[in-house]
Amino acid sequence: MKHLIAPSLLSADFMNLQRDVEMINRSEADWLHLDIMDGVFVPNISFGFPVLEGLKSLCEKPMDVHLMIVEPQKFIKEVAATGAYMMNVHYEACTHLHRTIAGIKEAGMKAGVTLNPHTPVCLLEDIIQDVDMVLLMSVNPGYGGQRFIEHSVEKTRRLREMIDRKGLQTLIEIDGGVNLETGKRLIEAGADVLVAGSFVFKAENPLQVIHDLKAL
Ligand code: DX5
Ligand code: ZN
Repeated sequence: MKHLIAPSLLSADFMNLQRDVEMINRSEADWLHLDIMDGVFVPNISFGFPVLEGLKSLCEKPMDVHLMIVEPQKFIKEVAATGAYMMNVHYEACTHLHRTIAGIKEAGMKAGVTLNPHTPVCLLEDIIQDVDMVLLMSVNPGYGGQRFIEHSVEKTRRLREMIDRKGLQTLIEIDGGVNLETGKRLIEAGADVLVAGSFVFKAENPLQVIHDLKAL
């Protein structure tokens, strides 16, 4: 499968959100990645459901929602109402992950599980068959523009091995510090979806950067 590109809106110009989303619509991006933070699970607050609601009619790409919040199971209905394609919850934030995954699917969305950099992929051994995607954080979640954690390449390789060994179709998405150099190595290691925030939105020509990431 050709890899997918999901620009992260966190690094967009919030005073010109419509312009930036329309640029994504015209681009070769496959999805739009949306980072919701609560100031508890991560030390930052981003944007919430009213913004997603606004994007619902504007954004032509499937919405890949990454919830960096405690108790994400409380908001399954709200996320589904925004028309989201994928709902990603953190492994570290879910006591009853199996139930949460089932709830996301029942609400009509694809279910993703996200791992913080310190959480080993072996913990997915008994849940991976139920999830549509695993999102590996290659920075500590909370901010855009951070430095890529090198170990993520090896971690991607191990997750690829687990998925192939089990004969599953689970996607691997990587989030944090992605650029052309790290992106290339992540794809070689088995990544299916690359999230890129600052590398896309802080670029002089975001459309070209998305094209270059897609061409890796
Ligand atoms: C970080 C977010 C990321 C962020 C990535 O907590 O989950 O999606 O936007 O930003 P970059 O690509 O700049 O590292
Ligand atoms: Zn994210």
